[in-house]
Amino acid sequence: MELQYDVSLKPYNTLSIDVNTSYFVRIYSIQDLAAARQFCQTKSCPWLLIGGGSNLVLTQDFDGLVMVMAMDQVRWPEATSSSPTTPFFVKVQAGYEWDLLVEESISRGLSGLENLSLIPGQVGAAPIQNIGAYGVEIKHCLDSVEVFNFETGEAFTLNCLECELSYRDSVFKRQKNWIITHVQLILKLESKPQISYGVIADTIALLSGQAALTASPQQIRDAVIHIRRAKLPDPKQVPNVGSFFKNPIVSLEKKHELINQWPNLVAYALSSDQHKLAAGWLIDQLGWKGFSEGEVGVHEHQALVLVASGAATGKQVLALAKRIQTDVTLTFGVTLEIEPRLFDSRGEFFF
Ligand code: EPU
Repeated sequence: MELQYDVSLKPYNTLSIDVNTSYFVRIYSIQDLAAARQFCQTKSCPWLLIGGGSNLVLTQDFDGLVMVMAMDQVRWPEATSSSPTTPFFVKVQAGYEWDLLVEESISRGLSGLENLSLIPGQVGAAPIQNIGAYGVEIKHCLDSVEVFNFETGEAFTLNCLECELSYRDSVFKRQKNWIITHVQLILKLESKPQISYGVIADTIALLSGQAALTASPQQIRDAVIHIRRAKLPDPKQVPNVGSFFKNPIVSLEKKHELINQWPNLVAYALSSDQHKLAAGWLIDQLGWKGFSEGEVGVHEHQALVLVASGAATGKQVLALAKRIQTDVTLTFGVTLEIEPRLFDSRGEFFF
């Protein structure tokens, strides 16, 4: 384990927030994790594991050890001479880049991940927030997750059910000492296009002139990339963490109350009494889209995404989030929950 001192975290978070950490180390193996655990116990200091840094807001210098996940091996199965429905188990270390995995899986003829194209971040972060886009969530192709318990030093495996995956949530958001080291996915040769999300079918038709029902995983990936590039800023050019708020879930009664006042409300039924509202639509109605003040703002094509200038502080980003939350609550009577995880000098906090 090669320890560094007083390191800037600017390159390690996609909001490009420039705070320092007292101690810093790259993790290449479980042995590195065990050594880092020993270090934190000896120093009695807090720790923070960063993957791609695409879902966190750092608000202060970190008074502990930051570990950057650098375990990045993948074990591909042999994808020849099997029937289309045979499940292929792909075991990936947590530090592998998510979109590279999607791209490689498609080029190996495997399907399942194409709708999740271009999501920034690493494989290990994917189950934490149960990444999802265009009608697919990682829970649809997750087999199991290997975990290192940073409190006890034990390693263990959870199956998909035990990960308790739901909309942008999992057991990993509650078990703060669990570090994901490996993810095993189930992919197939057979392609079952998931094209229920409206814009996907239209975009496939636009790009390939082909009916979406017969689209290949590569054509779906191309469509998703096209949509994401048009709507979402590339964090390498415009610092951001993707959706800053979750889409709120309300009762049928609340949905009816809102529709009476805003007939164009965008809502999707999850069950008879659970309706997901498009938070981007709510924020957009209040005129926030394209808003900019000082170092922070709201993306011009997607109101759910806050953007930063590269010189912004985490506190400035959170102050803007607070203003938007308050505005939405006062107008619609709906609470917007923040999606990325927030950290101060000692660890995670809630807002
Ligand atoms: N909308 C607006 N104005 C906006 C943004 C959205 O009116 O500024 C409306 C759209 O017209 C559309 C609806 O809201 O009718 C939904 O918009 P969109 O398809 O862009 O999806 P979303 O619900 O805003 C979610 C995820 C995204 C994911 C997309 C596509 C969350 C919090 N966000 O956004 O995930 O890419 O669906 O599946 O669930 C992320 O998590 O970082 C992320 C980008």
